[in-house]
Amino acid sequence: MNTFYITTPIYYPNGPPHIGHAYTTVYADVLARFARLLEKDVFFLTGNDEHGLKIQRFAEKLGKTPKEVVDEMATVYRDYWLRLNISYDYFIRTTDSVHEKVVMDSFRKLYEKGYVYKDKYGGFYCVECEKYYLPGEYVEVEGKPYCPIHNKPLEYLEEETYYFKLSEFKDFLLQVLRNDKIVYPEEYSLEVTSRIEKEGLRDISIARPVERVSWGVKVPFDPSYVIYVWFDALLNYITGAGYATDPSRFEKYWVNVHHVVGKDILWFHTAVWFSILKALDIPLPKKVLVHAFLINKGLKIGKSAGNVISIDDLLSRYNGPDGVRYILSRVFNMSKDSEVSFELMDAIYNDELADTYGNLVRRVGALAMKKLKGKIYRREVDKKLNEQITLRLNTYLERMGNYDVPGAIIEIMELLREGNAYVNNTRPWEKEDPSKELYSLLELIRVSTIALAPVIPNAASKVAEEFGFRIENPARVQLGVLERYNIRNAPILFKKVMPQRST
Ligand code: MSP
Repeated sequence: MNTFYITTPIYYPNGPPHIGHAYTTVYADVLARFARLLEKDVFFLTGNDEHGLKIQRFAEKLGKTPKEVVDEMATVYRDYWLRLNISYDYFIRTTDSVHEKVVMDSFRKLYEKGYVYKDKYGGFYCVECEKYYLPGEYVEVEGKPYCPIHNKPLEYLEEETYYFKLSEFKDFLLQVLRNDKIVYPEEYSLEVTSRIEKEGLRDISIARPVERVSWGVKVPFDPSYVIYVWFDALLNYITGAGYATDPSRFEKYWVNVHHVVGKDILWFHTAVWFSILKALDIPLPKKVLVHAFLINKGLKIGKSAGNVISIDDLLSRYNGPDGVRYILSRVFNMSKDSEVSFELMDAIYNDELADTYGNLVRRVGALAMKKLKGKIYRREVDKKLNEQITLRLNTYLERMGNYDVPGAIIEIMELLREGNAYVNNTRPWEKEDPSKELYSLLELIRVSTIALAPVIPNAASKVAEEFGFRIENPARVQLGVLERYNIRNAPILFKKVMPQRST
């Protein structure tokens, strides 16, 4: 199977993206770039989730139409992804007419197949939130249900709605979640399984009366209803790959689709999404890769906690995209929330990018130019170093293959530390002809640079160009065959940052 399809969640554009969105997007980009290096046929999809009450309200607040706002924000998101060097192939917007048609057609198909039905929905409603609260979600004041956010009594409302028969998929979901290893890491699969076992599965409302939510895709045969934003949003993954426009392309990529998502949207990407796919007769995704949160002082970073770290600040502090991408990839964690602060990010940037990788490139480059005019001819690679490079590269490949980007990076940092130690131990500056040492070190730098290329693409290209080698498939790299290095410059790749503030 030589295709690789990877998606990010599509983001709500009710504000610019922040470090949390960048965290997911950079991770997906690293996997996409790695797959391209492995010579796979990659399709990388990201985009914006533009319908629904959240966006409608946001536009109202700005005194603009929702369409104006989402158009502006699509440019803002694209621009941030460009500045972070995100190599997406297509940017999907749920207001794309092709997508809207997929949403309507899918809704109709499910209705015709009997998976969607109309019925009454009754419950306690907060007009301020425009939301129903289930028992357990609202608070009780003097025995009456109150909105936990507005602290006002809830109204009992009844409306007709369209339901999706989620309950019918219980056995199917349990069987898939227990056996198919789609959800990774597996603990998240267990989490969903035990929630289904404990709470069962209730049918879910997948439409709202148009008087309540006007900004969305209409139910095709009943325009007084708007389709629920999550039903609309999830379908982006099929539209984006050409489901409606290019079925052969869709099939080609869909067989190997990987969804990257934060743990906050796990339920939607498993219970709900798997059931919709099954109902539409579309195969389930190959993998749902779930990660934990970036937190600051114990709180999830986000607009509601007010502890957002801006992408602009990161880009200017860490000298552009490579620094930011490296830091985010390095602290990436699927299972545990990662606490970040500028102190920690400064330390990672300074110790690893500047002092370990940058320093080795600079030292070896400068020595090669000084001692051998930059021309280093092939010699036998130092035996021990050769072994270390081979071992670490294999571990790197294995970890990347298991979606473990931080683990893979750590392995390469270890190799680079061994490289720095080798310089200290062999003292090539004292030798008349340090060709063997420098050739060995350049091989180590070449392998490390290729391995880091998906994370720090700009620096990697620069080193490859200045030192005279190619960024190639890391699974095919051979040591000791490159005839000659031609070093034209010993670049300073990463200027250190001065630790100055704490957050
Ligand atoms: N629009 C929905 C997703 C629909 S996908 C069919 C949505 N959008 S969102 O703008 O709220 O983005 C949520 C995603 O952003 C999370 O799942 C996660 O990937 C990422 N993150 C936002 N804040 C984050 C952290 N503090 N930490 C890690 N990831 C974070 O939900």
